[in-house]
Amino acid sequence: MQYINELSLANKRVFIRVDFNVPLTQDGKVADDTRIRACLPTIEYALKQKAKVILASHLGRPKGERVEKYSLAPVAERLMELLRLGEVLFPEDCVGTGVTKLSKDLKPGQAMLLENLRFHQEEENNDERFAKKLSALGDVYINDAFGASHRAHASVVGMVPFVAEKGAGLLMKKEIEFLASILKAPKRPFVALLGGAKVSDKIGVIERLLNTVDCLCIGGAMAYTFLKALGKKTGASRVENEKIHVARKILSRAEAKGIPLCLPVDHDVVKALEDGVEPEPAADIPEGWMGVDIGPKTRKLFAERMAGAKTIFWNGPMGVYEFEKFSQGTYSVARAMAETKAVTIVGGGDSASAVVKAGLADKMTHLSTGGGASLEFIEKGTLPGLRVLGYR
Ligand code: 3PG
Repeated sequence: MQYINELSLANKRVFIRVDFNVPLTQDGKVADDTRIRACLPTIEYALKQKAKVILASHLGRPKGERVEKYSLAPVAERLMELLRLGEVLFPEDCVGTGVTKLSKDLKPGQAMLLENLRFHQEEENNDERFAKKLSALGDVYINDAFGASHRAHASVVGMVPFVAEKGAGLLMKKEIEFLASILKAPKRPFVALLGGAKVSDKIGVIERLLNTVDCLCIGGAMAYTFLKALGKKTGASRVENEKIHVARKILSRAEAKGIPLCLPVDHDVVKALEDGVEPEPAADIPEGWMGVDIGPKTRKLFAERMAGAKTIFWNGPMGVYEFEKFSQGTYSVARAMAETKAVTIVGGGDSASAVVKAGLADKMTHLSTGGGASLEFIEKGTLPGLRVLGYR
């Protein structure tokens, strides 16, 4: 796989797939511009090389219809402020004769951002005709959309064979460097922390991590399935009963390999999952109560594990962190990670946004821009959007 800095770009139309799927505020402004800023090195590099830059992204899940709240207009505005360019052209669509003409009329060093790719169902269907239409917009194809590269969609996979020159962007390079390093040669001890709701989403990742970690800490609702597998009381907590046998298998694999698998030793519990309810700490979860966060002793235990590590990878919240009162465990992990001298890598999604909210983003070695993508990369060692560029 080639990278953008190995290709000649001058005077060419460079189609860059980016992941500008950013959260918006109620009044339609960009709430967190991390993903936009993360792509600036690639965009600025292409502009400096006098490329004609065509940026393409999805936003949300409009399901093939033009839904105004999913317009990329606020992103175009933010991008313009960040790039400090005179103008970023923003056509009303991502394909069509008008858009193709606009791409040809671009001047070297000028950029345009296409409207949401997912306003066309053909994007997610990886439709060949749509892919060909997109490919008509660029002489060079660059994928810098790490966060969307686990999706085999037209702009990520389908269009690639129809563009003569292709490669990956600088954000992609950084993501691969960090994530591949923890798979291949992490500095040891290597501690991974996983959270989130479901064991079923993380089985492949856990299996893969058990080949490389020195210690695995598990929090979030998925921990309750493991605790139940060990015969512990889980009260009314969220448990995936049909995955208890999988949790058992994982526990015995970790034991056979001599890898400590740390589960919560206490919990923050409530009777009902309501915003504003004060949770109580409990070692065992009583009947009728549910765990909503890791408890104070567990926060300390996980922090101790992290303090001795040279590499730390974290993905997934430790509790129902969207409710402030149940977010202490998640923030404690972010703080403990920020305090170590280890190489710290945060998978995208909720854990990355917790780090940003806590103001700790610049304390981490690498904050991935991909949630699902970083997990799939760890599990499989590549992604559909990378495979098509030759990265295996
Ligand atoms: C993400 O936010 O994880 C990516 O942009 C992919 O979005 P999707 O889950 O809607 O495909």
